[in-house]
Amino acid sequence: MVFLVAFVVTYIIFKYLLEVFIYRKIKLIYKTITTSKNSKEKALEKIDLDVDILANVSKEVMEWDQNRSDEIAELKRMENFRKEFLGNVSHELKTPLFNIQGYIHTLLEGALDDPEVNVNYLQRASRSVDRLCLIVDDLEAISKMESGEMMLDQRTFDIHELTKDVFESSELKAKEMEISLSFKEGSDRQFYVYGDKDRIRQVLVNLMINSIKYGKKGGSTVVGFYDMDQNILVEVTDTGIGIDTKYLPRLFERFFRVDKSRSREQGGTGLGLSIVKHIIEAHHQTINVRSTLGVGTTFTFTLRKAR
Ligand SMILES: Nc1ncnc2c1ncn2[C@@H]1O[C@H](COP(=O)(O)OP(=O)(O)OP(=O)(O)O)[C@@H](O)[C@H]1O
Ligand SMILES: [Mg+2]
Repeated sequence: MVFLVAFVVTYIIFKYLLEVFIYRKIKLIYKTITTSKNSKEKALEKIDLDVDILANVSKEVMEWDQNRSDEIAELKRMENFRKEFLGNVSHELKTPLFNIQGYIHTLLEGALDDPEVNVNYLQRASRSVDRLCLIVDDLEAISKMESGEMMLDQRTFDIHELTKDVFESSELKAKEMEISLSFKEGSDRQFYVYGDKDRIRQVLVNLMINSIKYGKKGGSTVVGFYDMDQNILVEVTDTGIGIDTKYLPRLFERFFRVDKSRSREQGGTGLGLSIVKHIIEAHHQTINVRSTLGVGTTFTFTLRKAR
């Protein structure tokens, strides 16, 4: 009998202690988790403490753990991206910088008095300075766009007229490659859109120059416009070298180039398409690409139709 009473008393004390020190603490943890979650979601629902708290806490902790793991993975991805980006920037800046350094040293060491080479070396150094400026300008443009600082000066303009302008300014480069620039059937007329004309010119120039740089001799670049109810779809198609499908998802990344040596030979840094995408996205529009290796590439983007 005494044993039974002792057992019951011990049981009650034990249960009480368990309740006070463990269960209440878990309740507190559950309450904290739920409150913090609710305040994040800005929906302060009443916390029901009569539910199966242990199961809920375990579920919440697992969810939390999963979210943290996803967050950490994303941060690691960004960190790698940042490292790669910094590496690319310094690499791209180094090439022209070393060239300039080389020419200046040679000039100082006596070449300055040699009329056969002095002007030539200065011209080469000057070209490298131009290239440095170009890279820094592009980087500045990208960082402005990424921080949302780019203000668009939007108005109504004729995209056909603007494309004609860009055809004219690309004519010399196109002639060198014997590439013809033309409008698709039905597109050689006015198409009014609403956007930042100078930025869209930048987009067209980039796509046009790419279609020539990565074009094939004797090929063609054709621009078409399609009326799509709310938007005008602009399509730039070339008959150039094309891009392997596996590279397409990375094409709009900063510094991404399919063939690094060929692209650098052409003076490319791999910033062009990244700028193009930022401009189109700042207009709340989209840009896409499809390509067949050895056959050609088509870029399409939309612009708001003027009304
Ligand atoms: N029309 C195209 N046909 C084939 N490849 C292309 C075409 N457009 C772009 N590419 C590929 O995509 C890469 C990225 O293009 P992007 O315009 O961003 O850089 P880039 O032309 O190398 O340099 P930048 O435009 O900064 O002078 C190019 O290096 C090239 O490999
Ligand atoms: Mg380019």
